[in-house]
Amino acid sequence: MKINYIECSPRGSRSHSSKIANQYIEQAKTNITDLNVRHINVWDENLPEFNGETLNAKYSVLAGADPESKEAAAWSGVKEIFDTFADADHYVFSVPMWNFNIPYKLKHYIDIVTQPGMSWSFSPEDGYKGLMTDKTATVIYASGDGYGEGTGFESYDIQKPYVNLWLTFLGFKKIDKVIIDRTLFDAETAEKNALDVALKLANINTL
Ligand SMILES: Cc1cc2nc3c(=O)[nH]c(=O)nc-3n(C[C@H](O)[C@H](O)[C@H](O)COP(=O)(O)O)c2cc1C
Repeated sequence: MKINYIECSPRGSRSHSSKIANQYIEQAKTNITDLNVRHINVWDENLPEFNGETLNAKYSVLAGADPESKEAAAWSGVKEIFDTFADADHYVFSVPMWNFNIPYKLKHYIDIVTQPGMSWSFSPEDGYKGLMTDKTATVIYASGDGYGEGTGFESYDIQKPYVNLWLTFLGFKKIDKVIIDRTLFDAETAEKNALDVALKLANINTL
């Protein structure tokens, strides 16, 4: 089994989401001896600009043509990152909330790997189709405050609905979440509760 661990906090050992993700992975390792974990930190990746050339390539592909010259070079850079992204069975994302949404580096990564002919397809007959239908994910969401039911701030949370929508669009067959919230108020309780959920999921997903 291959796991891609996609770390999206730049805070290293101070990150709550990274800490829970690491514990999830350690638990998974105790269940599966030949578990292969690839660590992708979106802050360390040399992500190419998603600029005019890359966009032209994307629109060429959407129109059913092959990108040429500079566009082709840009597209092959995108394909290389996508191939690494796609090379896993299970995905662990550690995602901090930044201004109610996700950190911009994760959005950059999403913009690169979410491509027609790679992670999704479109045809007038079939509409949109996710192509990553054999994948599962565990997403660990951290936020300084809480946005759960009854807080009155449910609608401020764009982080969880967005990531869930994105993975659903790509066709993921199972998406689990672990919430570590109110980290700015009571990090100890938040970590304890989240760890409980994370370890249970690690057992379910890797046994
Ligand atoms: C740039 C930035 C924006 C943030 N915006 C929010 C926010 O909108 N809502 C919130 O509850 N917490 C916000 N926070 C707090 C983080 O979500 C919180 O510290 C969380 O634990 C970060 O995840 P990490 O510990 O894995 O890095 C923000 C933090 C930063 C650095």
